[in-house]
Amino acid sequence: MFSRIASNTAKRSVRQFAKNTTQARFASTKPSVAVHPMQVGLVTASIVGATAGAYMYADVSANLADEGLHPPTHPWPHSGPLDTFDHASIRRGYQVYREVCSACHSLDRIAWRNLIDVSHTEDEVKAMAEEHEYQDGPDDQGEMFMRPGKPADYMPVAYANEEAARAANAGALPPDLSLITKARHGGEDYVFALLTGYVDAPGGVEVREGLNYNPYFPGGAIAMARTLFDGVVEYEDGTPATTSQMAKDVSTFLAWAAEPEHDDRKKMGLKATIILTSLTVLSIYLKRFKWAPIKSRKIVYSPPK
Ligand code: HEC
Repeated sequence: MFSRIASNTAKRSVRQFAKNTTQARFASTKPSVAVHPMQVGLVTASIVGATAGAYMYADVSANLADEGLHPPTHPWPHSGPLDTFDHASIRRGYQVYREVCSACHSLDRIAWRNLIDVSHTEDEVKAMAEEHEYQDGPDDQGEMFMRPGKPADYMPVAYANEEAARAANAGALPPDLSLITKARHGGEDYVFALLTGYVDAPGGVEVREGLNYNPYFPGGAIAMARTLFDGVVEYEDGTPATTSQMAKDVSTFLAWAAEPEHDDRKKMGLKATIILTSLTVLSIYLKRFKWAPIKSRKIVYSPPK
């Protein structure tokens, strides 16, 4: 029944449409199809919509192997709007970064001092920095010299330059990890999935010599081999160092490295919300209070008799 109504309405509108448009045709008019303004509007809207849609979803590929498998979302302790980082996890993650990842990956934007009161005490940070040598100078003689690190120094680099890094990794460049959770779709979920996602290549998939199969990496073949195996580090707090535990800790550490202001930002946000909400309520009350006599008054004009 609804479809009958719909089709009647459609017929009527077609008739109406024909009436409207045939009126304006004369003998000299070219026998082209008359266009209703509504049609122009609809066509324009769909072209604009389709273009906007294409731009928005341009990175959605039909082929998962090209884009990499979408990483599953994990309930990170810091993902809620009022949650802070798990700092014990940042400390363990730093240990994984230092003992495993730092062999190939730099962490350019983090200085030793950034770890103070986040994962380590000031004395611990000073001691850790001193274990690394930094070039400084020139001295009185104009010579450069080596000195032990200070908290103000940045994390030591893995390779002297990009060429050295590529030469040591079969042509692939291990990216700097300071902002990696911001630079990859999926953030820490992606890093976790990548580190734990090494599996044998499925039948029919050829992986070139020197590359490793990992479904989460776009293209499926990554130059970084699996680096985390149960027990490669020994945690000082006694946490069992399983592959997934280390991947979780190092992902948390890298999420912190990309967003060291995270905890303060959420605290500030909460304070701002509380203060601004109370000020809004107060100002609404004050406005109504001040305007009450004006809004409720009645002006009466009594003409002179
Ligand atoms: C033996 C050297 C080596 C070690 C150790 C290593 N990586 Fe890598 N990593 C690489 C190389 C090389 C690449 C570049 C891979 C490519 O482009 O195919 C890479 C790439 C990455 C990427 C980027 C993937 C992408 O989407 O572009 C991440 C994230 C990463 N490594 C994390 C880690 C973490 C975390 C650790 C420590 C647990 C680690 N890596 C240890 C060599 C290493």
